[in-house]
Amino acid sequence: MKKRFVLAWTVLVSAVWQVETAALAQATFAGSNPPSIRLIPTPSEVGLSAPQPPPPAPRPIQVRPLQPGAAFPNFPVTPVATAPGPLPPDIIVWDEDLKESTLAPGEVHSLLTFNFTNVSSSDVTITHVQTSCGCTTPRLPQMPWKVAAGRHGEIPVVMNMAGRSGTIFKTVTVNTDKGWKMLTVKTTIPPASPTAMTANERLRNQQLVLADRQAVFKGDCARCHVEPVIGKMGKDLYTAACGICHEAEHRAEMVPDLTALNHATSAEYWRHWITHGKVGSLMPAFAHAQGGPLSEAQITSLVDYLVKAMPSKPGAASPSLPAVVPTKASAPSGGR
Ligand code: HEC
Ligand code: HEC
Repeated sequence: MKKRFVLAWTVLVSAVWQVETAALAQATFAGSNPPSIRLIPTPSEVGLSAPQPPPPAPRPIQVRPLQPGAAFPNFPVTPVATAPGPLPPDIIVWDEDLKESTLAPGEVHSLLTFNFTNVSSSDVTITHVQTSCGCTTPRLPQMPWKVAAGRHGEIPVVMNMAGRSGTIFKTVTVNTDKGWKMLTVKTTIPPASPTAMTANERLRNQQLVLADRQAVFKGDCARCHVEPVIGKMGKDLYTAACGICHEAEHRAEMVPDLTALNHATSAEYWRHWITHGKVGSLMPAFAHAQGGPLSEAQITSLVDYLVKAMPSKPGAASPSLPAVVPTKASAPSGGR
C-alpha cells in the first residue's frame, strides 16, 4: 500500500508539474493577446514602403507581434477536458470546504484530508489539482482520475510550513470534467514553546555550546535564541534574550537565578556579562562585536532595565568579572 502510494505520488508530482506549467502558460497568455510567433516582420509592419532590399543579416529578433483574435495552440493538457465554471453542488459532495490544523511545536508538516462522494449518476473525472503554493501538495492517484457514480474518494493535502509562522491559508483547486471546486487548507503554527525540548536535545545543545559558546546564535538555534530578540528593548528584550535561559522552569542547574545573586551588581557588571558572556560556560557573548545578536543600544536598554529590576544586594561584595576575549572589533577600545 505504501509503495503503491509512493509510486503514484512520484508519477503525480511530474504530472501535476507539467499540467500546472501548461496551465500557467495558458493563463499568462490569456491575460494579453494570444501570440503568434513571427520572427521577421513584413515591410508594411515596420512602416516601410515596398519595395525594400532584404534586411541586413543580424537583425534583432522581433518577438510575437500581437494579433488580436488569433487562436493560441491548445496544449495537450490531459485527454479529458476540464469543464469551465464551478462544479455544481449536486455532483460531488465534500465533507468540508475548509480543513484546519494546528501544528505541535517543532512540527513542520500538516496533513489534511478532504473526503468526497460522487453523488451523481455518472462518472466524474478529476483532470488535475492545483495548489496556490509550492508548500502545499496534494497526494493523488494518477490523473485523470475517474470516480464512478456513488463512489467515495479522498484528497490528502500536505502543507510544509518550515520557516513559517502564524496562520496560513492555501487553496487547492480540483478540476474535473464537470467543473472545478476550490478547497481551502488552514494551518496555524504555534510560536516556539519553552517546553518543546527533550532532555536529549538539551544535552546536545549544552554540548554544542561548550564546543562553541556562540553556537546558540547560529543555525536552527537562532529560531528561539535570536529571532525573538530582534527589535526588542528593555524588559521585553530581557524576557526574550535572557529569560529564555535564566527564567526557564526546566533550565540546566548551571544557569543561575539572576534575582537571587549573592553578590553586589552594578551597571558595569551587567554590561560586562551581557557583552562578553563567559568563556567555557553556557553564557554566550551578546554584543555584535562578539558575534552576538544585540546592538549597543539594546544592551544599554537591558542594563537600564536590570539595574532597576534586579537591585544589587546591599552590603555584598562585588564579584570579579569573567575574562574578556579580545576581538578585532573590540580590542582597541577595550571591548565597549
Ligand atoms: C524551540 C526553541 C529552542 C531552540 C530551537 C533552541 N533552544 Fe536552547 N533553550 C530553549 C529554552 C526554552 C531554554 C530553557 C531551558 C528549557 O526550558 O529547556 C533553552 C536553554 C538553552 C541553554 C541553557 C542550558 C539549559 O539547558 O537550560 C543552552 C546552552 C541552549 N539553550 C543552547 C541551544 C543551542 C546550542 C541550540 C541550537 C542547537 C538551541 N539552544 C536551540 C529554547 C530553544
Ligand atoms: C543560553 C543560555 C543563556 C542565555 C540566553 C543567557 N544566559 Fe546568562 N548565564 C548562563 C549561564 C549558564 C551562566 C553561568 C555562567 C557560569 O558558569 O558562571 C550565566 C551567567 C550569567 C550572569 C552571571 C551571574 C553571576 O553568577 O554573577 C549574568 C549577570 C547573566 N548570565 C546575565 C544574562 C543576561 C542579562 C542575559 C540576556 C542578555 C543572559 N544572561 C542570557 C546562560 C545564559
